[in-house]
Amino acid sequence: MAATNVVWHTATVTRERREQRNGHRAVTLWFTGLSGSGKSTLSHAVEESLFELGCNTFVFDGDNIRFGLCKDLGFSDADRTENIRRIGEVAKLSNQAGIIALTAFISPFCSDRDLVRSSMPDGDFIEIYVKCSLEKCEERDVKGLYKKAREGKIPAFTGISSPYEAPVNPEICLDTELHSIEESVQMVIGYLQTKGVLTK
Ligand code: ADX
Repeated sequence: MAATNVVWHTATVTRERREQRNGHRAVTLWFTGLSGSGKSTLSHAVEESLFELGCNTFVFDGDNIRFGLCKDLGFSDADRTENIRRIGEVAKLSNQAGIIALTAFISPFCSDRDLVRSSMPDGDFIEIYVKCSLEKCEERDVKGLYKKAREGKIPAFTGISSPYEAPVNPEICLDTELHSIEESVQMVIGYLQTKGVLTK
C-alpha cells in the first residue's frame, strides 16, 4: 500500500547552489536505442569527456542496474515500464544533487520516456536516440543475445519479439552506422554548450 501522511522536506543546500558551485547545470542525457546500438559505449564516452571538463556525472546502465535496483524486474512490457519509471526517478534525484545523469536503457516505449520527460523540469530531459538498424545490431551481436533470441531462447527480445518505438522528436540523434564515437561525443558536447548546460 502506498504511504500516506508523508511531507516533503525542503533542502537548504539547493540544486541551484550545487549547480553554481559545479559550474554546470544538471541534466539527464537519456540514451535510447536497440540492444547493441551503442548506448553504453556512447554514454560512457560522453561521460569521459564531461568528466575531463570538470563536470559531476554518473552513468546508469541498463544491464548494471538490473543486477541491483531493478533485479526484481524482467522484460515484460509492465516490468520495462517500471524499470524506466525507477530510473527516471533516480535520474531526477541525481539532477537535484547537481549531477549530470547519463542513462543507457533500451527504454523501448515512447510513453515511458515521455512520462520521465514530463516528470522533470523543462529542459532537464535530453533524449538521445542512438540510431542503428536492427540488421547492424544483429550483425554486431556483441553479447550473442540476438542469436539466442532468433533461436527462440530469449522471450520478448527487443527488435525480434518485442517492439522498439524510436523517438519522434529526440533532442539529439546519433547514428552509429554513420558516425564515429568521437563525432557523436562532439555532437553531444556541442549541444550542451549551445544550451548553456556547460557554463564554465
Ligand atoms: S529496458 O527495455 O527495460 O529498457 P534494459 O535497457 O534495462 O531494457 O536492459 C536491456 C539489456 O538486457 C539488453 O542490453 C540485454 O543485454 C539484456 N536483455 C536480456 N533479455 C532481454 C530482452 N528480452 N529484451 C531486451 N534486452 C534483454
